[in-house]
Amino acid sequence: MSAISPSPTVENSTRSATSRSVLMCRPDFFTVSYRINPWMHPEEPTDTSLAVRQWEVLYRTYVDLGFDVRLIDPIEGLPDMVYAANGGFIIDNIAYGASFTYPERQPEGPAYMDWFRDNGFEVRHPANINEGEGDFLLVGGVILAGTGFRSTSNSHRELAQVYGREVVSLELVNPDFYHLDTAIAVLDDTNIAYLESAFNGKGLARLRGLFPDAIIATEEDAAVLGLNSFSDGYNVVIASRATDFERQLRERGYNPIGVDLSELLLGGGGVKCCTLELRR
Ligand code: ARG
Repeated sequence: MSAISPSPTVENSTRSATSRSVLMCRPDFFTVSYRINPWMHPEEPTDTSLAVRQWEVLYRTYVDLGFDVRLIDPIEGLPDMVYAANGGFIIDNIAYGASFTYPERQPEGPAYMDWFRDNGFEVRHPANINEGEGDFLLVGGVILAGTGFRSTSNSHRELAQVYGREVVSLELVNPDFYHLDTAIAVLDDTNIAYLESAFNGKGLARLRGLFPDAIIATEEDAAVLGLNSFSDGYNVVIASRATDFERQLRERGYNPIGVDLSELLLGGGGVKCCTLELRR
């Protein structure tokens, strides 16, 4: 790129940001009252007002990046609804609805599908158990799809039919990284970051073949859900405690922006979990 007019806040010579449209849900009713992943300890206290304050920093960060941020009303009694990524998966204005694994979260599926319909998306009711963008990640033209703990491999086949795109199934093997978005961060249309130990040999071979230049995350960063991040192609919103990931992103020409969602980590979620991308 020439020296003419690179704007340092939006892009550098190798990366460029594309403004995103995302759906979020304020954690007004957030708490940990059941245990469906190893991060959750219902016997320990949570601070809902702190969760809201931390979430508001994330919300503000997206607004300041120029994102179009939409909100779905939280529902009392659905404490995990803040993790909007699980509410569905959207490409080309088509919303493939979620069908949750555990009964505690099942009412969220129809609530999100209602929002999609009311907001002009074409809704596809799922025939198979799946937890939306928690397990499905679009990288360029390919959909990476996780299974092993939540979304079923049948949902991967359904996904391929709905969108007519290639779906790469990846089996997750560590219960701490039970959703694909806890083990892989999508950085842009061609690259990702991931945690090697979250996958079996077959999945690792697939990832190495597809993304030879991927960032390999440390166990320490993954353990604060550092990979659970959201990128616009240049700015990457990450857990502020994921310091090595931050360094690696900087080295590669990305602009990491740290936020602290410690309270939402008690439910087993981070930045990406709170973010559902709306692709029209
Ligand atoms: N407590 C929630 C669950 O176990 C956390 C969901 C996190 N979301 C995500 N996209 N990884 O379902």
